[in-house]
Amino acid sequence: MILLLGASGYIGQALERALRARQWDFTPLSRRQLDYTRFDCLRDILRKTKPTFVINAAGYTGRPNVDACETARAETLLGNTLLPHTIAHACLAAGIPWGHVSSGCIYTGAKISENGTLRIERDLTRPDLRSRCVEQPSSIQGYSEGDEPNFTFRRPPCSFYSGTKALAEEAVTSIGQCYLWRVRIPFDEFDHPRNYLTKLLRYPKAYDNVNSISHRGEVADACLALWERRAPFGAYNLTNPGFITTRQVVGLVQAILKPKRSFDFWANDEEFYREAAKTPRSNCVLDVAKALAAGARLRPVHEALQDALRNWRPQGLSNLPPSA
Ligand SMILES: NC(=O)c1ccc[n+]([C@@H]2O[C@H](COP(=O)([O-])OP(=O)(O)OC[C@H]3O[C@@H](n4cnc5c(N)ncnc54)[C@H](OP(=O)(O)O)[C@@H]3O)[C@@H](O)[C@H]2O)c1
Repeated sequence: MILLLGASGYIGQALERALRARQWDFTPLSRRQLDYTRFDCLRDILRKTKPTFVINAAGYTGRPNVDACETARAETLLGNTLLPHTIAHACLAAGIPWGHVSSGCIYTGAKISENGTLRIERDLTRPDLRSRCVEQPSSIQGYSEGDEPNFTFRRPPCSFYSGTKALAEEAVTSIGQCYLWRVRIPFDEFDHPRNYLTKLLRYPKAYDNVNSISHRGEVADACLALWERRAPFGAYNLTNPGFITTRQVVGLVQAILKPKRSFDFWANDEEFYREAAKTPRSNCVLDVAKALAAGARLRPVHEALQDALRNWRPQGLSNLPPSA
């Protein structure tokens, strides 16, 4: 049996669907049933039910977005750092391996290859870098798991949310047997307030940047595939291979969904942070070679996005477009 913590959440629901599709024996557990954030409660249920694997899809992301984590700091630290640390110790005590839904938002920027050298650029919104992403995509390399996270409390600036996610990786990495599954900006065909595509469709203005992003269902499948294949424990970047600019995503939305609205962009970072955001946002490119080599199946990002948009299932909200 697999114990799934946080099954009620956005990522947890996708993991639950993936577990059901594979007909694996699993038990979803909510804090409403048992306060799994308490070490003694969690250790006891692990000893009693003896799962073969624990999945932690619980955490605190802030609503409607990460800006909320700046004010709810205790909750953010509890959900994103102390909870994984507690789970790590409870799993160690019960001798059970586990997987933790981490985030790629512990990085910013990408590695740029030029004249045979590689350099790190933290901010891809600079005009020359933005055009490089479109015109010379092969010169942009993602961070791999061996690269030190650079959007963290140790490497500021960062958001409080990202800081707590990076701290969790650091805190649990040497305790027991654990996967760190790094997810970023989830999307799929299901219209939902947490879906990147839904957000883009509803934002009055979009923030143009460059990112690796994650198809939610493929990421859930990839997490299970890594466990099924007994891939070595450790960190795995789980985004769809490649990267995409916000303008390219909006272009696909317009071409496929044909919404009855135009899309505006914030003029620059200054305007975006003055009008729409409080805390710095992570925008980054990740390398997923390690996950692919270990057996995860993740389609190239443009293909996965087009597929999600072609199968778009709107929730009937007034400002959403008709289905494709
Ligand atoms: N959504 C994203 O954009 C995204 C991207 C990358 C990574 N992640 C990571 O994925 C994990 C799940 O995110 P999500 O988007 O699925 O979040 P979500 O929809 O808010 O669900 C999180 C679930 O965690 C449980 N939980 C346990 N402690 C909590 C706490 N202190 N505050 C709030 N919820 C708590 C809740 O389930 P019960 O109360 O039922 O137990 C809740 O349903 C997080 O660790 C997040 O950092 C999310």
